[in-house]
Parts: sequence; structure tokens; C-alpha cells
Amino acid sequence: MRKINKICCIGAGYVGGPTMAVIAKNCPEIQVEVVDINQKRIDLWNHENLDLLPIYEPGLKEIVGETRGKNLFFSTEVDKAIEEAEMIFISVNTPTKTYGKGKGQAADLKYIELCARNIAKVAKTDKIVVEKSTLPVRTAGAIKSILDNTGNGVNFEILSNPEFLAEGTAVDDLMNADRILIGGDETESGQKAKDTLSWIYEHWLPKERILQTNVWSSELSKLVANAFLAQRVSSINAVSALCEKTDANVAEVSKAIGHDSRIGSKFLNSSVGFGGSCFQKDILNLVYIAKSYGLTEVADYWEQVIIMNDYQKRRFADNIISTLYNTVSGKKICFYGWAFKKDTNDTRESAAIYVADALLDEQAQIVIYDPKVSEETIYSDLDYLGTRSPEENRKLIKVVKDPMDANKDAHAIAIMTEWDEFRAYDWKAIFENMLKPAFVFDGRRILDKDKMDSIGFKYYKIGQS
Ligand code: NAD
Ligand code: UGA
Repeated sequence: MRKINKICCIGAGYVGGPTMAVIAKNCPEIQVEVVDINQKRIDLWNHENLDLLPIYEPGLKEIVGETRGKNLFFSTEVDKAIEEAEMIFISVNTPTKTYGKGKGQAADLKYIELCARNIAKVAKTDKIVVEKSTLPVRTAGAIKSILDNTGNGVNFEILSNPEFLAEGTAVDDLMNADRILIGGDETESGQKAKDTLSWIYEHWLPKERILQTNVWSSELSKLVANAFLAQRVSSINAVSALCEKTDANVAEVSKAIGHDSRIGSKFLNSSVGFGGSCFQKDILNLVYIAKSYGLTEVADYWEQVIIMNDYQKRRFADNIISTLYNTVSGKKICFYGWAFKKDTNDTRESAAIYVADALLDEQAQIVIYDPKVSEETIYSDLDYLGTRSPEENRKLIKVVKDPMDANKDAHAIAIMTEWDEFRAYDWKAIFENMLKPAFVFDGRRILDKDKMDSIGFKYYKIGQS
């Protein structure tokens, strides 16, 4: 095991930023430099007003405030940071490929390869390179091949150290991680590198929670962990459709099955569908890998998780349309929430985007309120789909800053994100503000049905008839 003085992290995103902030907080003797090619993002990480950090996570601004300028630094000087660091985390994005072979399924590894080539070009001293990004199993082989062919005599150890934090609870997940996974070569130098990375985490986590495996198990475990979590959501969402037909209540069913300690209670909340940058991407990647090894049944099995999620989003939109007398054309529908879950400003793959798209196809007028998501992000999410022109999207969609403006004269409200503040609203006043009959479609099951019924709403709660 060797002690590390300087760490660099390439990629100042949802993973790189919070992860490095927590390392800096817990390892005051280590200097942590987070670098990115995105100047705007780095400027926001360095902004003196901590409310303007590029990523919103409860507890994050306090940690950044405490460590920034002491042992946590953000910059665009990628080469310099690589050169100086003894350990380099790669935390860049690995989106689904949108072109060429594997389009729509395989992970696009161009950013990873660019990082590896950059490290190979710049490094003059031995480095431990840590894959923090989620990568297809066997990617470390490609990184190693690029790094080992530099011809400059530098020794690289490659570790896989996938991140398991969830957005909205990133700081807590990092501070109290269930486990840390470190995969590396089963050689003497590989073991030394694994122990060195373990030593960093041991600053604040008990050693029993730090698991060491070979590189391939570690890479694959990350994809499998996300696939299992998403599969639970799709399973309970499949059951929610059945509940609506049979007068069963999905909350009661999920409580009943979750009490079985073999099943457990977590990740059994039925919703309008899972979103986020990773579940879909990682399952598609798993499907692609299985197919590439000729494992068709394995691929089909996991693909069904995505098919069920798409069904849930479509089912929610279809229900709004059919309940509003089969037409939403020209009707005002208020969306509460746009983020893919509460306590984050991230909207990637949010169910709200796809439900909105389906309603816009039917010429609905949507007014959106989300406490943390900007107007610019909402428009760009819809423009990215390319279903209609940016002008048309702006004609049909309005984004407001006051939640009461969103429901004024609305035909219906769709709850798309489970923000706590939505529960606390004065729903009587909202009822008065809306056109009658006033419909509420609760895609997050956050409101009380009896209370909503007694106010006079036509209230639909997913998974309950
Ligand atoms: P992100 O898009 O928020 O951040 C990635 C950053 O990398 C961007 O700011 C981008 O500008 C930067 N970047 C890309 N290429 C670069 C280069 N060559 N040099 C310097 N910077 C470069 O992505 P994210 O959400 O932080 O995800 C990163 C990885 O972590 C992905 O593989 C993802 O699957 C994985 N992951 C994400 C989460 C999550 O909650 N978001 C959780 C666990 C794992
Ligand atoms: C998920 C995993 O939970 C993390 O462990 C993982 O590191 C991360 O993906 C990743 O690799 O990116 P995240 O997507 O941030 O984290 O958030 P989750 O809490 O997992 O929620 C994902 C989606 O599922 C959200 O849209 C959420 O609303 C939905 N969900 C979750 C449900 O609909 N029901 C549930 O019971 C749980």
C-alpha cells in the first residue's frame, strides 16, 4: 500500500463532483483536483455563491464550502492535473451510443478512450488509474492496452471502482456507503493498488464494507446492481396495472411482499416509471453485451425491464387522455415536477419528458413547475427528442416559477416528481383555482386519496382503482 498525496478526477459531473468533495472532506491531507473540459461547469463549481453550484444535492454545498480552495480544486487544466496526480479517477459520461454499431444499446466509450489517450500522452510518473464511470465488462482491458503502449516507461495500474450513489441522496450515500467495490489485477502490484484505494475509503468507512474482486467482476457488478434495482421498479409497476383492474392497492401489495425479509421493502414504490441517466443506459448495455456473446434469452430477459418501463409511462399518458374525455387538445395540463426524482435538478430520462411528449402529440398545453429545474433544461429535453420543432414546443409549453400559476384554470394536474413540497400544498385552494371537474393524476402516489376525493377532485393514483 502506498500513501497518496494528490488525486485528480476527470469529469466534474454528478458523480465526479460529489465523490471528490466527500473524499476531500474525509482526507484533509490529500489534495483533490477535479477537472473538466466544460468551462461553464467548472466556473459554476468555483462560483462564490454556493447556491449556484452546477449540481444540486442536499448537503453538497456545505462540504464544497468547507473544502474548496483548501484541498479541493476545480479547473479545466486537465493535462496539468493528470501529470501531478498519483491516482486518477475517470468519471466521464458513458451514454448510450447514438450512431454506428450498437446504436441505441451499447455504451459510447469515446470519452473514456479520450481520457485514456490523454493520460497516456501526459503521464511521466507511475499512476493508478481508477474507472469510476460505469463501463461495460472488459473495458479495463482496452484502457490498459492504450496506456501500456505509450512507450514512455510509465507503469499504470487499472482499477475498477464503480459508484453506487443515487442522486438526491448522493452525499449521504457517499458518507455511509453500503459497500465500496474495488476490482483490480490479482498480481502483487494489482493488490498494492487495490489496497491503496481501499486506504482512501478507510478514512471514513469500516474496512468490512470495502470489497475487493477481480476487475471483470467489479465492472459487471455495477451493471447488474442497476439492472436488479430497475427490475424491482418494473416488477412493481407491472403489478400496479393489475391492481388498477382488480381493486387491489399497490401500496398494500408492496408492503405485504416487502415484509418478507427475502424480498425486502426497498425499491417497491410504484411510479410513473423510472428515469435517470443510468438505469435504462446500463440495462441496454447489459442487453447488448449478452447479445454479443450470443446469449439471446439473457438479453431478452433484461430488455423486458425497459419494455415494462416504457409501457408504464405510456399507460400514464394514455390514462390522462382517455379520462379527459378522449381529447386533451387545447386543454391546460399542469405538471408538478420535471426532475426524474425529488431532491435533484437532473432530468435525464425523466418520465415527465415522455409523458409530456405524448400529451403534446395530442396538442395539450402543458404548464410546468419544478422547484429545481430551469426553463432552459425543460425546453432542451423536449427539443432533444426531435418530435416537433423548438418553436412548437415553446408554443405548447410554459414553465412557471410559482406553483399556483401552474394550476390556474387547468383541466388537470399530473404529479411527475415526488417533491416534498407538493404534499404540503393547499389542495383546497388549488381545487378552487382549477376548471371543473378538476382532475389530478398522481404518478408518484404522494397524496391521500380520501382527502383529495373529499375536496372534490377526480383523483387518480397510480396502482389504485
Ligand atoms: P455527467 O455527464 O454529469 O459528467 C461527466 C463530465 O465529464 C461532464 O461534465 C463532461 O464535460 C466531462 N468530460 C467528458 N469527457 C471529458 C474529457 N475527455 N476530459 C475532461 N472531462 C470530460 O455524468 P455523471 O452523471 O457524473 O456520470 C459519470 C459516470 O458515472 C457515468 O458512467 C455514469 O454511468 C456513472 N454513474 C452515474 C451516477 C449518477 O447518479 N449520475 C451514479 C453512478 C454512476
Ligand atoms: C440509481 C441507483 O440507485 C444507484 O445505486 C446508482 O449508482 C445510480 O442509479 C447510477 O448508476 O446512476 P438514481 O438513478 O440516481 O440511482 O436514483 P434511484 O433512487 O435509483 O431512482 C431511479 C429512478 O427509479 C427514479 O426515477 C425513481 O423515482 C425511480 N424509483 C425508484 C421508483 O419509481 N420506485 C422506487 O421504488 C425506487
